[in-house]
Amino acid sequence: MNRERAETISKSRSKLIESLQELDALKASILDAIPQAVVGLQNRQINFANTAVEEVFGWHPEELIGKSVTVFYRNDEEAEEIGRHFYTTLEHQRTFVSEFPCRRKDGRDILCRMRSSRIGERLSKEKRIVITYEDITEQRRAEEELANSREQLRNLSIYLQSVREKESTRIAREIHDELGQSLTALQMDLAWLGARLPAGDLPLAGKVQRMAALVDATVDSVHRISTELRPILLDDLGLIAAMEWQVQEFEGRTGVQCKARLNCKDGSVEKDLATTLFRVFQETLTNIARHAEATMVKVRLFQKGEELCLDVSDNGKGITPEQAGDPKSFGIVGIRERVNLWGGSVSITGKPQKGTAIKVRIPIRRGEC
Ligand SMILES: Nc1ncnc2c1ncn2[C@@H]1O[C@H](COP(=O)(O)OP(=O)(O)O)[C@@H](O)[C@H]1O
Ligand SMILES: [Mg+2]
Repeated sequence: MNRERAETISKSRSKLIESLQELDALKASILDAIPQAVVGLQNRQINFANTAVEEVFGWHPEELIGKSVTVFYRNDEEAEEIGRHFYTTLEHQRTFVSEFPCRRKDGRDILCRMRSSRIGERLSKEKRIVITYEDITEQRRAEEELANSREQLRNLSIYLQSVREKESTRIAREIHDELGQSLTALQMDLAWLGARLPAGDLPLAGKVQRMAALVDATVDSVHRISTELRPILLDDLGLIAAMEWQVQEFEGRTGVQCKARLNCKDGSVEKDLATTLFRVFQETLTNIARHAEATMVKVRLFQKGEELCLDVSDNGKGITPEQAGDPKSFGIVGIRERVNLWGGSVSITGKPQKGTAIKVRIPIRRGEC
């Protein structure tokens, strides 16, 4: 009987040992499969380390056993600091994540994302915790580089836009002033000539009349070209007048009815912001003319709370989310870019066969609108 019992006990013991060994093997392979460095600490001393510590820190796992975790940091003060952080947080929370500068065995500094978790329900007296270290130096550098190049692109786009706007303004003024003056002089001369023609010379009178008509048409073209380049109205009379003109021009050109309610004190929107809104408005109208197949457009400009709002909607075929979000939709990208510069937002939505709505919101600084 006793022998039998002894045998059973011994059998269960070896089973237990087997399962413990299996557990150990499982733990070891899990630890080794993790790409982050994993170390176990007791009173800040390393008591286990996985193979990835070698890749992250250049230390062989065995070298680390028994060493203080300070070997991973740049100096004792920083090691103290991060230790304090971890232990105070782990008193009342099971895990803790932070980013901290670390140092490899070869002296190279790296930035690590660290996750620590305590072993057990509460932080034991021996402060048993596990920490994982992920080297995020490259990732951070790439993020910074990306942010930098975005910033550069944005600056370039601001610069190009302002250069283009200045250039257009200059050419528009020159065409308007120089050509305008010469043409007015020609008109006056032709009127003078017409009045002095010998009575009854019909061919000559006809010629002068046709010349006068041609000069009138040229005056109109000059006016249209210079206004398209940069509406002098925008500079002289402000946003509302320029938008009203644009609405009329759009209706005349396309035959699409356009209802505009522009409720914003004229002249109160600062010039650069007025240019932004005007150019955005022009692009939305151009898109409607080119793509929407609409018969009606509604435009609203108004102030709501601390925001200046421009809504343009049409009853056309409706933009698709893919078209609205396509990075190659340069007109729309340009609208977003211009509005972003003012810290504003753009929403573009379309419903098939119902139409497209663009809503632009720009935070107002004091004194505007
Ligand atoms: N009001 C609209 N109604 C329907 N589709 C539109 C409208 N506005 C823009 N789109 C679609 O979105 C695309 C991108 O517009 P945009 O970036 O201005 O480029 P582009 O006008 O040069 O084609 C257009 O090609 C068109 O297919
Ligand atoms: Mg376009």
